[in-house]
Amino acid sequence: METMYVPAADTIPVAWGWFQFFLLLTFPLHLLTMNAMLGGLAVGVSQHFLGGAVRQRLAHRLALVLPLVIAFVVNLGVAPLLFLQVLYGQFVYTSSILMGMFWIAIVPILIVAYYGAYLYDFRFSRLGALGKWVGLAVLVMLLVVAYFFVNNMLLMSLPEQFNRYFEHRSGTLLASGQAVFLPRYLHMITGALAVGGLFVALVGRYRGGADDELAIHARLVGMRVFFLLTLVNVGFGVWYLISQPRDTMLLFMGGNPLATAVFILALVLVAAVLVTAYRQQLGLTVAGVVVLVYLMSFMRAWLRSDYLEQVFRLDQLQVVPQYSPLLFFLVTLLIGITVIYWLLRKTLEALRDSGATHS
Ligand code: HEM
Repeated sequence: METMYVPAADTIPVAWGWFQFFLLLTFPLHLLTMNAMLGGLAVGVSQHFLGGAVRQRLAHRLALVLPLVIAFVVNLGVAPLLFLQVLYGQFVYTSSILMGMFWIAIVPILIVAYYGAYLYDFRFSRLGALGKWVGLAVLVMLLVVAYFFVNNMLLMSLPEQFNRYFEHRSGTLLASGQAVFLPRYLHMITGALAVGGLFVALVGRYRGGADDELAIHARLVGMRVFFLLTLVNVGFGVWYLISQPRDTMLLFMGGNPLATAVFILALVLVAAVLVTAYRQQLGLTVAGVVVLVYLMSFMRAWLRSDYLEQVFRLDQLQVVPQYSPLLFFLVTLLIGITVIYWLLRKTLEALRDSGATHS
C-alpha cells in the first residue's frame, strides 16, 4: 500500500508561544475585514436588486468602499499566513499541494473579483441594470475563495486524509466530504454576513449629516441583518460543535477548563450582542463582536491542536535561538501600524470630502 508521510517540522527561532500569540492577534483582524467584505457586499447587492432611491444610494456607498476593504482582507491575511506556516508548515504546505489545483486557482479568481469590485465601484451608475450582476458575480467569486480556504484549513488538520492523495493525484483533494465541513463553512459564512450587517450600519453612520436618510436606513438594515443571521448562526454553531468527534467536543464542556471558560464567556457574549443589536446600540454591539471573534478564534485554535494531537504538538517544535528577526519584525510592525493608521485617516477624510463621488 502506498503511504504518505507528513514532512518533519522545521526548527523555529524563538519559543512557539510568540508565533501563536501573533497568529491569534492577526487572524481575527483578517476575519473581521473578510466579514465586512462579504457581508457588506451581500447587503449592498441585495439592496441593489431590491431597488428604490435610498437602497440604491446605500448599494453605491458600499460599492465605493469595497476595493479598499478587499485590500485590507488580503493584506491582513498575509500576517496569519506567515505565522501559520512557521507553526504548522509541515501540514499546511502539504494540504495546499494536495488541493493545489484549487489553491492556486484562488489567485486568478481573486484578481478577477478585485477587478470586478473596481468596476462595480467606479462604473456604478454607468453600468445601470448590469451593475448589480457585476456585484453578484464578485460576491460568488469571494464565496468560492472562502470555500477553498475552509477546505485547506480543515484538510491541514486531518493528516490521516493525506493518503487519499493516491486517489486524487492531480492536486484535487478536498475536505468538503467531511461531516464537519458543511457546518464549519455555514458557521463561517453566516457569521461573515451577520458581521457585515454591522459594517453596513457603520458605513451609514459615517454618512450621517451628509445623508441622514441613508444613515438611518443603513443602520436599520444592518442591525436587522446582524440580529437575524446571528440567531441563525447559533444553530449552525451548535451543529458545528456536535459534528466534532466526541472527545474534541468535550474539550469545551469541562475537558479543558480554559477552553470551557472561553466557550461559556463566548455564549454569554452572543446573548449580550443579540440584546444590544435588538436595542440598536451599534457601538456596544461592534465592541462585543470584536471580542467575540477573538474568543471564537481561540476556540478554533484549540480545535486545531486537538485534531493534530496524535501526530504533533506545538511544544515539540525545536527552538534554535535567533532573536534578531523577531526584533526586526516588531519594529516593522510598529512602523506598519503607524503608516496604516495615517493612511486610513487620510482615506476617510478624502471619502468624507468627496461625498458620493464616482458615478
Ligand atoms: C479575499 C478573499 C478571502 C476570503 C473570502 C477569505 C476567507 C477566509 C476564511 C473563511 C477563513 C477561515 C477558514 C476556516 O478556518 O475554516 C480564512 C482563513 C485564512 N485566511 Fe483568508 N480569505 C481570503 C483571502 C485571504 C488571503 C489573500 C490570504 C493570504 C494572503 C488569506 C489568509 C488566510 C489564512 C492564513 C487563514 C487561516 C489562518 C489560520 O488557520 O490560523 N486569506 N480565510
